[in-house]
Amino acid sequence: MFNMPPLGILTFLLLYSYGSLAQERTVEVQTRCGASFKDAYKPLQIQVNSDSDCTWEFSRPGNETTRIVFSLLDLNPSADCAQENVTLYDEKQRVFGVLCPDSHRTSVFETNGKTSLRVFTNSVALQRTIYLMYYSFAIGKQAAVCGGNIKGYAGTISSPSYPGRHPHFAYCVWHLETPKNTRIELTFTEIFLEIDLACRFDFLALYDGPTTDSPLINVLCGRTVATLETSSNILTLVLSTDYANSYFGFNVNYLALPRSNSSSLGCTGEEMTVVFDPAYVSSLGYSANELSLIDPTCRPQSSNPIAFTVPFDSCGTVREVDGHVVSYTNIVSATTAGVITRRKQVQFIVKCELDASSVVEIMYKTEDDIIQESQGTGNYDVDLSFYETDDFTSPVLQSPYEIDLNDTIFLQAKVKSPDPEITVFTESCFASPNANFNGPAHYLIKNGCTNDNTYHDYPSGSGFARFSFGAFKFIQEYPSVYFQCRVVICDTNDGGSRCNQGCITRKRRDLGTNIQKATAVVGPIRLRRQSDVEPIESESEKREEDFKQPEPRNIYLFGVLVLVVNVLIVAFVVLRNSRK
Ligand SMILES: *[C@@H]1O[C@H](CO)[C@@H](O)[C@H](O)[C@H]1NC(C)=O
Ligand SMILES: *[C@@H]1O[C@H](CO)[C@@H](O)[C@H](O)[C@H]1NC(C)=O
Ligand SMILES: *[C@@H]1O[C@H](CO)[C@@H](O)[C@H](O)[C@H]1NC(C)=O
Ligand SMILES: *[C@@H]1O[C@H](CO)[C@@H](O)[C@H](O)[C@H]1NC(C)=O
Repeated sequence: MFNMPPLGILTFLLLYSYGSLAQERTVEVQTRCGASFKDAYKPLQIQVNSDSDCTWEFSRPGNETTRIVFSLLDLNPSADCAQENVTLYDEKQRVFGVLCPDSHRTSVFETNGKTSLRVFTNSVALQRTIYLMYYSFAIGKQAAVCGGNIKGYAGTISSPSYPGRHPHFAYCVWHLETPKNTRIELTFTEIFLEIDLACRFDFLALYDGPTTDSPLINVLCGRTVATLETSSNILTLVLSTDYANSYFGFNVNYLALPRSNSSSLGCTGEEMTVVFDPAYVSSLGYSANELSLIDPTCRPQSSNPIAFTVPFDSCGTVREVDGHVVSYTNIVSATTAGVITRRKQVQFIVKCELDASSVVEIMYKTEDDIIQESQGTGNYDVDLSFYETDDFTSPVLQSPYEIDLNDTIFLQAKVKSPDPEITVFTESCFASPNANFNGPAHYLIKNGCTNDNTYHDYPSGSGFARFSFGAFKFIQEYPSVYFQCRVVICDTNDGGSRCNQGCITRKRRDLGTNIQKATAVVGPIRLRRQSDVEPIESESEKREEDFKQPEPRNIYLFGVLVLVVNVLIVAFVVLRNSRK
């Protein structure tokens, strides 16, 4: 999956061995068990052996956020997490993070105030090595504002200030999403981060999915180039930098390519997206500028990949209603210019079917009037977003969403479908201090029951559910809070559906047929603080005298973090079969 071109390796080794850019940084190794630190930032390389139970403490004031970045986690790989782990405690001695022997080597946690880290190992004699760095900053005052949510077919992501030097103490998370049924091809034109064979100091981590819990594709640093591919249409990219040796960061071009069959179709309730591999189109004897939809003025939006966004209400899209099913059809074809052609007549018929329980994608390729192939899957997408006021007209575009403790938060969960016969019911909704939802949880709704006395329900309409709640104490205790809601999608006409059952207190089997569930995530929210304290300065170990802290550049393209989790709809199979 990951190929480093030979030239990249060569450059990397040369730079490393000659040390022309950076001497190997020496790191203080913690061999004694446990210690307490007051520093505003500190790197720690922890080395322990069998049967240890050691606690390291970071004594930071309660008005600061401490971020702990792990970049190496070498525990006994065959140990059980119940015996061997790294556990993080906040100032109230509550666990806010656990790393197990099989956890990713890179992880990031945040908490306010005093923090401690406890390392447990089992009885197997073996040296364990953990590298981490912590640093603190005034609540809400990060050294670098970066990262964001990006959607598209092709584009570029680069480190803050690129091609200038990246800031110190940056933790940037990009979530990249390309159309459904595509994969992402990444070409790094430059990676120039502090050189370290283990990438402990400044690093880029790539995850094959929507969160940093998704499979880790690779951790990159040093001076190199690389190309790699994801298996799905969602990638999470993390850049973490420390207090020293700031180089030029990275620049990567991304491209959506069909996951299989050289062409792909993705349907949402709003539009369809057709993506072709340019090499495939050229193997048919055509180029991007010869392709169009039924309306010949509708051309591809992008030539590499060749991508069409097909609106449901224009470009010649034909809408048909058959019983409960609404379908939209368009055709991608080549406009052959007058001359006698020896090229095959190729058409791609693209069709999205939407009904009360699913979205179906159908794509046919016809070559000289012979239908060659078809494909289809069914999904529902749910968007979860914050709104400014109780009329739910303006979504919050700022991210992180900064609020005061007294503020009311308005949330809407909406199914992306134009179908008027859909009812949405929020079955559960909880807040967590991290985007991986593995820390403490505060439930607002559980099994359809209200679990927070500030909770207020608003009338729901076709395809959406709305509610509000007060910013709770939880947010005072954690620097960031994320929300995960699970919604149930029901047919409005089905009186016995889960949507009509409301709160279920006793454990009961789910009743009703054709229930679809979808999970959506939104966040983070942070507590607003009036504070003019500067972010921590990095005086020591700053080897680059000319380094200037660059202006943080806000590259949140989509203010509201909406990680849409596509849920495969089982009912789709039933639907398809019954239609046969
Ligand atoms: C971590 O290890 C300790 C000591 O064996 C154990 O008490 C604790 O439950 C473990 N934590 C997890 C989450 O397994
Ligand atoms: C945090 O509180 C301490 C006193 O406990 C104060 O000296 C410091 O300025 C405060 N820092 C911030 C960022 O508000
Ligand atoms: C094309 O798609 C069809 C249906 O999804 C599949 O059966 C077939 O193996 C695919 N062909 C290639 C070359 O991937
Ligand atoms: C929050 O609301 C209470 C009364 O509801 C008020 O006394 C307090 O001043 C408010 N705090 C802020 C920060 O607005």
